Amino acid sequence: MKEQVQLHKDQFIDELKQFLQIPSISALSEHKQDVQKAAKWLANSLEKIGMENVEVIETDGHPIVYGDWLHAEGKPTVLVYGHYDVQPSDPLELWETPPFDPVVRDGKIFARGATDDKGQLMIHVKAAELLMKENNGKLPINMKFCIEGEEEVASPNLSPFIQNNKEKLSADAVVVSDTSFINKKQPAICTSLRGALALEIKLKTANTDLHSGSYGGGVPNAVHSIVRLLESLHDEKGKVKVKGFYKGVPEPAGDLRKEVAEIPFDEEEMRNELEIEELYGEEGFTFNERTGIRPTLEINGVGGGFQGEGLKTIVPSEAVAKISCRLVGEQDPSEVYDRILEHVEKYKPSGSRVTIQKLIQAHPVSLDSKDPMIQKAADAYEKVYGVRPLFPKEGGSIPIVEVFARVLDAPVVLMGFGLNTENLHAPNEHFHLENFTKGIETVCEYLSDLS
Ligand code: BES
Ligand code: MN
Ligand code: MN
Repeated sequence: MKEQVQLHKDQFIDELKQFLQIPSISALSEHKQDVQKAAKWLANSLEKIGMENVEVIETDGHPIVYGDWLHAEGKPTVLVYGHYDVQPSDPLELWETPPFDPVVRDGKIFARGATDDKGQLMIHVKAAELLMKENNGKLPINMKFCIEGEEEVASPNLSPFIQNNKEKLSADAVVVSDTSFINKKQPAICTSLRGALALEIKLKTANTDLHSGSYGGGVPNAVHSIVRLLESLHDEKGKVKVKGFYKGVPEPAGDLRKEVAEIPFDEEEMRNELEIEELYGEEGFTFNERTGIRPTLEINGVGGGFQGEGLKTIVPSEAVAKISCRLVGEQDPSEVYDRILEHVEKYKPSGSRVTIQKLIQAHPVSLDSKDPMIQKAADAYEKVYGVRPLFPKEGGSIPIVEVFARVLDAPVVLMGFGLNTENLHAPNEHFHLENFTKGIETVCEYLSDLS
């Protein structure tokens, strides 16, 4: 397959560029039409390679793109999941080249969505195309594509769609490329993803901002109040202080810790790369543990009061904070939300009114690396990269993976081809083209092997 991939490489990269040009930012309503455009582009590209029953399925939010090819009688069925939506691209001034004007530099393609997830998703489309070309328009196995446009907003509409279409989506394995290698040389198949819960806290004091001379020191200050409230969320050892937060978190027993410790991690390299003097986190845990098997509560942003040029001497009356938690084990996002509500009620400084809004939620998921569908994927990587993948626990979330595993009762194979250093969600996102082409080879190997 290597020769086939090399032969078509330039064409594949051109197509990926077209896909990357569409600013399909799911979180921003002004991009709704662009998200539609990306869905149509993808549907068209599935149709062109020979997929059947291709549909752009409208939802209450952004569409789901479906297509299948089901003529490999008696052979297994693989459902490919991915997302064609992308994160917002700001701050624009930090991009070396514009986010939706893809360019190749040093063997990497730069654009928003390059690694997360358009580049990784296209690996499967192009692998299917090559397998069909090789084999007179036939695939060695049955294939279904189910690609969504709302992953970056926690998949609110795909979840009910899966519940209502179990038959249509049934498969022997769900295959997803939306995770990362350990480093350039070390491939990985991720075996757990953390869940998530995000919320927004609005805090109000007086009914208006006030002169800090006439009123300061005599009335509550909304920014002081939110700072105190936020400070109450952690103790000095980095533990989350919300009562009941750790319910359902597995004890970090010997086996689990050993498994996590097997994933290489170079602290000094990370400190240098990020230009920080020290790492940080819950006392008694390593970096891999803190980001893989422990839950967290992070303040994503705080606002309030005067932030403009120069000075305005006021006592601010409003402040807001955005918070997201990463969840593990049996932690339930709805329960964690309730516990946070209780905490805020108890710890909000007197003289402040607080309103809280849940933004998103997702359950954690754990997968069995011994599953034959995962082991066969590992074989395919080993053939192409010459190295057997490791099985790390990922700190990020792919909300729908837990739903696929539970509702379809199928193994989920998280065969990622990204790198954590490819600036996903940040300026100058990129994807190593070597992993694009080798990824296509790997997927071809895998699907052929499954037949
Ligand atoms: N592809 C990522 C998940 C991921 C992140 C995998 C880092 C491997 C390493 C996915 O697109 C993502 O960003 N998910 C969001 C989900 C959230 C909005 C619920 C995340 O993890 O923040
Ligand atoms: Mn992703
Ligand atoms: Mn993402």
